[in-house]
Amino acid sequence: MIYISPSLLAADFNCLGAEVKRIEEAGADYLHLDVMDGVFVPNISFGLPVIESLRKTCGLVFDVHLMITKPERYVERFANAGADIITFHYEACDDPAAAIANIKELGKKASISISPKTPAEAVLPFLPELDMVLVMTVEPGFGGQSLIPETLEKVKIIRKTIDENGYNCNIQVDGGISEKNISLVTEAGANVIVAGTAVFRSPDPKKTIEDMRKNS
Ligand code: DX5
Ligand code: ZN
Repeated sequence: MIYISPSLLAADFNCLGAEVKRIEEAGADYLHLDVMDGVFVPNISFGLPVIESLRKTCGLVFDVHLMITKPERYVERFANAGADIITFHYEACDDPAAAIANIKELGKKASISISPKTPAEAVLPFLPELDMVLVMTVEPGFGGQSLIPETLEKVKIIRKTIDENGYNCNIQVDGGISEKNISLVTEAGANVIVAGTAVFRSPDPKKTIEDMRKNS
């Protein structure tokens, strides 16, 4: 099963509620929410109040991607704000096992992300406990970049390990993905596909999402 998770970062911030409604009606599965702190990544996006507010009217799965230092400090607050899946960065967290346990105790799905320079091996020990792994296909921080093809090798390694061991873990990819290159990431083994620019900036998001499913 392929899940499409449009990234709010590419939406028109002047009318977020309407933008989210538009994407929900277009057939998205998740809403990807990129939280940036200006420290872990050189950019600042949005945080708790925006997520809390969108939660009131949106029925999509909230897929929260925390690009913040020491994410364990904020896991509970994002859970309370309405996150369904909480992804934190391996590079930003002192004790990933404890953060995973905390997210799961809060009744949410736990996910670790690795940036392009971090090897796949970093996440393998955590796979039995994880609901999802996010393999970044661009350097985190900005939308609208091009996919780095070398990152797909890591998707293949993680997919092989999940399948060989029968783990119940999705693989998400994020950055530079559209209906034109989605087959690259799904063939490598990814099944949760983030797309910011491709979906939110499309003249016909419904068709774009359909094309993504068709081409996956
Ligand atoms: C980048 C973010 C992505 C970004 C993807 O740091 O994690 O979710 O919004 O945007 P596109 O699909 O435009 O590359
Ligand atoms: Zn993201």
